[in-house]
Amino acid sequence: MRPSVYIKDLGEHVGKEVSLKGWLYHKRSSGKIKFLIMRDGSGYLQCVVFKGNVSPEIFELADKITQESSFEVKGVVREDKRAIGGYELDVTDLNLISLSQDYPITPKEHGIEFLIDHRHLWVRSKKQVAILKIRHRIVKAIRDFFDSRGFTLFDAPIITPNACEGTSTLFEMDYFDLGKAYLTQSGQLYAESGAMALGKVYTFGPTFRAEKSKTRRHLTEFWMVEPEMAFYDLNDNMDLAEEFLEYIVQTVLEERKEELKELERDTSKLEKVMRPFPRITYDEAVEILKKNGVDFKWGDDFGGADETIISEQFDRPVMVHRYPAEVKAFYMKRDPENPKLALAVDVLAPEGYGEIIGGSQREDDYDTLISRIKEHNLPQGFFEWYLDLRRYGSVPHSGFGLGLERTVSWICGLEHLREAIPFPRMIYRNTP
Ligand code: 4AD
Ligand code: MG
Repeated sequence: MRPSVYIKDLGEHVGKEVSLKGWLYHKRSSGKIKFLIMRDGSGYLQCVVFKGNVSPEIFELADKITQESSFEVKGVVREDKRAIGGYELDVTDLNLISLSQDYPITPKEHGIEFLIDHRHLWVRSKKQVAILKIRHRIVKAIRDFFDSRGFTLFDAPIITPNACEGTSTLFEMDYFDLGKAYLTQSGQLYAESGAMALGKVYTFGPTFRAEKSKTRRHLTEFWMVEPEMAFYDLNDNMDLAEEFLEYIVQTVLEERKEELKELERDTSKLEKVMRPFPRITYDEAVEILKKNGVDFKWGDDFGGADETIISEQFDRPVMVHRYPAEVKAFYMKRDPENPKLALAVDVLAPEGYGEIIGGSQREDDYDTLISRIKEHNLPQGFFEWYLDLRRYGSVPHSGFGLGLERTVSWICGLEHLREAIPFPRMIYRNTP
């Protein structure tokens, strides 16, 4: 039943007769020849049906087969540098598996609303396939990076009893009749307990934010990878973050050339993503905004437009560190040189893609952490286990979180996060 040959492997079969299975992507005809473009998930192949080579029934079938019909094709593989994928198939036999009727996504332009409604079919289109393949390669690069550097995967729960990143973006649910539970905003607090057990860990999974802002940078369900390292300070954390980003970008450039070309991505911009990245303080970032005519108040957090102005000053990701503690999470350690500042770092991607990494050194002092929990009005009872990490062999430690969809969106050069995940969840609309 399963195909014996996939399009991506045709190079091994030049001159031979093979059979392939897939779907009709596109069709052209010119008199005695029909060109059927097959896609099989691994690539695209022009199947050439020449009237003189096949029976009249087969030639007629080649005429009748519609966009997105599934079919099997037999033929001889021919190398052709100009052809899509580099090979063509001289068809000897065709077999319809299932006729597709009135496929809704046609080669004409469709509005985004329509495409989002048909996301389950939209994922078949060339651009979406390229994005999804790049996403997969990024995920693999992320895992390879940590796995080859002594990190242990440490899965965090999705259903949690408390907030991690502020209470305003929590998705709440009833947990039987035992009270409220929440969808996780971040696996970080759990990763911290993992770091105390295993030294260096990472969590990688879906995270949730009830984000009320309808922007091209926010999803309500997104994937985040979060490394957490014992005995790392903020500088060590930034060193790791820049090595990590360089590795991801350079790997994708190397391994997904075809897909980046399909997306018409200007790769010269990505080639520049090499260490060292510029490191500036929040204060310096504020100066940049002021110089660019932004009326910015010290102490505020940067908005999307501010991030764009800051990142435009550099040709690679910029690391902004030491934010006002007021705008950052309760668990961040204060700067011993200026307690108004948190030992935080945000990495802003170039080309206006905004914050892709948020991280910090964590508060490792028991008493200070208790006062932070109180200041943030968090229920201390729920954080007793987290405080245990400061009671029993507390050490300086740090970590960060990289948003997968923002990274995919940046590397692919997308306009909106909704194309960076198979089924995006957003405040105003969900796909199937
Ligand atoms: O800056 P954030 O909120 O940091 C944390 O959650 C920390 N606990 C991470 C850590 O230190 N372990 O989120 C981290 C990253 C952001 O930089 C962004 O890339 C992504 O997660 N992110 C979102 N992506 C899509 N939609 C949203 N609503 C996002 N919110 C954050
Ligand atoms: Mg952040």
